[in-house]
Amino acid sequence: MKLLVTGGAGFIGSNFVRHILGQHPDWQVTNLDKLTYAGNLENLADIQAQAGYRFVKGDIAGRDLVDGILKEGYDAVVNFAAESHVDRSILDASPFVDTNFKGAQVLLEGARVHGVGRFLQVSTDEVYGSSEEGYFTEESPLDPSSPYSASKAAADLMCLAYHRTHSLDVVVTRCTNNYGPYQFPEKLIPLVITNALEDKAIPVYGDGLYRRDWIHVLDHCRALEAVLLKGKAGRVYNIAGGQEQPNIELIKLILKALRKPEGLITFVKDRPAHDRRYAIDCSRIEKELGWAPRFNIGNGMADTVDWYLKNGPWWRNIKSGEYEKYYQRMYGSR
Ligand code: NAD
Ligand code: DAU
Repeated sequence: MKLLVTGGAGFIGSNFVRHILGQHPDWQVTNLDKLTYAGNLENLADIQAQAGYRFVKGDIAGRDLVDGILKEGYDAVVNFAAESHVDRSILDASPFVDTNFKGAQVLLEGARVHGVGRFLQVSTDEVYGSSEEGYFTEESPLDPSSPYSASKAAADLMCLAYHRTHSLDVVVTRCTNNYGPYQFPEKLIPLVITNALEDKAIPVYGDGLYRRDWIHVLDHCRALEAVLLKGKAGRVYNIAGGQEQPNIELIKLILKALRKPEGLITFVKDRPAHDRRYAIDCSRIEKELGWAPRFNIGNGMADTVDWYLKNGPWWRNIKSGEYEKYYQRMYGSR
C-alpha cells in the first residue's frame, strides 16, 4: 500500500509511521509535515533511512504542494496534521482554522481529484463536547467547546460531506486522550512527568476534578490501522482507552511512580470553557473491526514514565527552546 501520512513528525503520527512500517515493511509511506513547534524529525530518527519511507516538509493547506504529491498516486491519506493544543487555540484560533479545517479540505480535494482510494481523518472525542454522565456514540450531536475542537468538528463534517457529495471513500476516527512516547510536553501527562523530574511545580487547572479517558498511543495506532484496512466508507469510529481518571488522581499516580512529593501540585487558574468530562462508547470498532485496547493505565503509565526517564535529551531539548517562552506566557516564571 502507498500511504500519504500528514503530521507524521508529531506525537501520534510518528508512532503511527513506526507502527505501520513495522507491521507492513513492504508499504510505502510519504510523511508530509510542516514541522511546526510540535513537529520533530527526531521522533522518526530510527525510521528516516528505512526503505519505503520519505519525508516532505510542507503545509497541508498548500494546494500546489498537495496536488503535486497526490498526483504520484496514493492508496490512502491518513490525516494527523493539526494544531492540537486546546490552550494554544484559546490564545490564537487562526492557525487552527488554517490547518485543521482549511488544510483538511485541501487534502480532501486533492484526494478527490487524484482518485485516492481512502481518506482517514484522525479526529477527537472533543468534538462531542462535555458530558457529566453517560457515553457519546458516533450518532451523538457535535457540541465543541474550544476553537480547537470546533475546528476539528468542522473538518469532520467536511470529510463526511466529501463522502456524500463526491463518493470519496472517507473514514473518520474520534479518539480519547492519548499518552505515550514522543508526546510534546505541553500536554498534561508529559508535562507532569517532566516537571516532576525537574522538581518543578505541576499546574493543575481549576479543582483538578476534570475527567479524561486515557489511551496508550500504540492502542490508538492499532485502531487506526484496523479502520484503514477494514473500516466502512462514510463511517465514524470512536476509539477509547476505557481508563477514565480525574486529573488529580492521574497526577498523583505519576508522582508516586516517580517517587516525587505531592507538594509539587499547584492549583492554577482554570482553562476557559474547560470541558468537565470526555467519555465515548467505542463498541462499534470493537464489534465491527475486532479491536480492543491492550494497555491499562497501570502498565501504560509505567511504559510511558520509563520512556521519559530514558529519553531525557529528547524532552530537555524541547523544554529548553521556544517552548519555554510559551510556558512562561501561560504560567509566568517559575
Ligand atoms: P501534535 O501536535 O503532536 O502533532 C501535529 C503534527 O502536525 C506536527 O508534526 C506538526 O508539525 C504537524 N502540522 C501542523 N500543522 C501542519 C500543516 N499545516 N501542514 C503539515 N503538517 C502540520 O499532535 P498529536 O497529538 O500527534 O495529534 C495528531 C492528530 O490526532 C491531530 O489531528 C489531533 O487532533 C488528533 N488527536 C489527538 C489526540 C491526543 O490526545 N493527542 C486525541 C485524539 C485525536
Ligand atoms: O480528548 C482528546 C484530546 O485530548 C485531543 O483531541 C487533544 O489534541 C489533546 O490535546 C487532548 O486535549 P485535552 O485538553 O484533554 O488535553 P491536555 O493534555 O491539554 O489536558 C488534559 C487535562 O488536564 C484537561 O482537563 C486540562 C488539564 N490540564 C492540562 C494541562 C496542560 C491541567 O490541569 N494542567 C495542565 O498544565
